[in-house]
Amino acid sequence: MTELNEKVWIDETINKIKNKMAWVCEKNKDKVPYTTNADGSYNDMSLSKDKGGDIDWWTNGFWGGILWLLYHDTKDCCYKDAAEVLEKKLQGCLMSYSGLNHDVGFMYMLTAVADYRFTGNKESLRDGMHAAGILAGRFNPAGKYIRAWNEYAEKAPLEGWAIIDCLMNLSLLYWASKESGDPRFKEIAMKHADMAMKYFVRNDGSVKHIIEFDPNSGEYKCSHGGQGYKHGSSWTRGQGWAIYGFVISYLHTGKQEYLEEAKKISHYCIAGINEDGLIPIDFRQPADVKLEDSCGACIIAGGLLEVSSHVSETERELYRNAAVKILRTISQTRADWSEESDAIVQNCSVAYHDNGRHIPLVYADYFFIEAMYKLREDEVFMW
Ligand code: GLY
Repeated sequence: MTELNEKVWIDETINKIKNKMAWVCEKNKDKVPYTTNADGSYNDMSLSKDKGGDIDWWTNGFWGGILWLLYHDTKDCCYKDAAEVLEKKLQGCLMSYSGLNHDVGFMYMLTAVADYRFTGNKESLRDGMHAAGILAGRFNPAGKYIRAWNEYAEKAPLEGWAIIDCLMNLSLLYWASKESGDPRFKEIAMKHADMAMKYFVRNDGSVKHIIEFDPNSGEYKCSHGGQGYKHGSSWTRGQGWAIYGFVISYLHTGKQEYLEEAKKISHYCIAGINEDGLIPIDFRQPADVKLEDSCGACIIAGGLLEVSSHVSETERELYRNAAVKILRTISQTRADWSEESDAIVQNCSVAYHDNGRHIPLVYADYFFIEAMYKLREDEVFMW
C-alpha cells in the first residue's frame, strides 16, 4: 500500500467509525455492552444476573474506553455523558468488592482513570486508586505473581493461578505509582512482569495461557492450556495480551528486556498471520479448522503498533506493516458498518472450546478503534 493510499484508508475507516458510533452511542447510552443479541442490538451487562447481566464482568470497562476515544476525537458530550453513566455503574463493584479480580485493570483504566485523565475528576482518581489497591492486594509475594481469578465453579481453588492476560492490567499499577509517588505499585507490576518472562514465554516466542504456583511456597507447579486449543498450544489472544502487555511494562519502566520480549512474541505472531490477514483462535489449532478470532487480531495489531513506535527506524516497518495487514483485513472483511449490528468487529471468539465463537465482543471494537487512532497518530494513550 502506498503512503497516500494508506492515509486515505485510515481517514475513511475513522470516518466510518465515527458515523457508526454516533448512533450506537445514542442507542446504548445507558447500557454496558458485551456482545450483541440475536437482533444485532447490544446486550446490557448492568442488568441483574437473572436477566443475563453481570456488572462485575471483566470486559465492562471497554465500552468506556470506546466512548472516551470518541470523545477525545469529536469533543461530543454524548460520549462523555455515556462514559460517566458507565463509570457510576462500575463504582458499585468497588463497594461490593467480591466479584472483582485482576481484571480491575481493564475495568478501571478505561473508565475511572480515563475520566480522571481527560477531566481531572477527583472522584475518578479516588476510584482508580481503590482499584489499584485491589490489584496490588492480589500479589502473592512467595510466587511473585498477581493472582488472576477467584473461585471458578468446576475447578479447584485458584489462589495459585496467574494468567498471561494480567500483563495488560499492570498499567493500572504503573499509573497508581506515577499518580501517588508511591513506588510499591510499580514494584509489584515489575515483579509480575519478570515472573511472566520466566514462566510464560517459550523459546520460540509463543506464550502459555496459565501458570499454576503453590500459593504457600510460591513454587512453580504446572501450566494449563486455558482458552486455547490444548495444553502446549498458543491461544492467539494470549499472544496479543503478551505483546501489548510487555510493551506497556517497557514504556512505564524503560526496562529493555520487556521490549525484547514483546519483539520476540511479535516475530512468532507475524510468522503465524494467515495470507488473508485473518487470525485463528489458536496458532496451533488443526490446519483444517477455520475458526478465527478478530478480537485477538485487533489486540495483536494494537501491540504491534505499540512495539513499532519504540524500535529503531529500520525495524519499524516490520511491526507496522503486519499491524496494517491485520487491520485492513478487519476493516474490509470483518467489520459491519451497517445498522444491522451495534458492533463493528465480527467473528470474535471467547475461547477455542466455547460456544462464544464468531460473535461480536465489545473489546474487539475497542482495540480496533484504538488501533485506527494509533495509525492516525492521535495523541491519546489509554494504558
Ligand atoms: N480473560 C481475558 C480474555 O478472554 O481474553
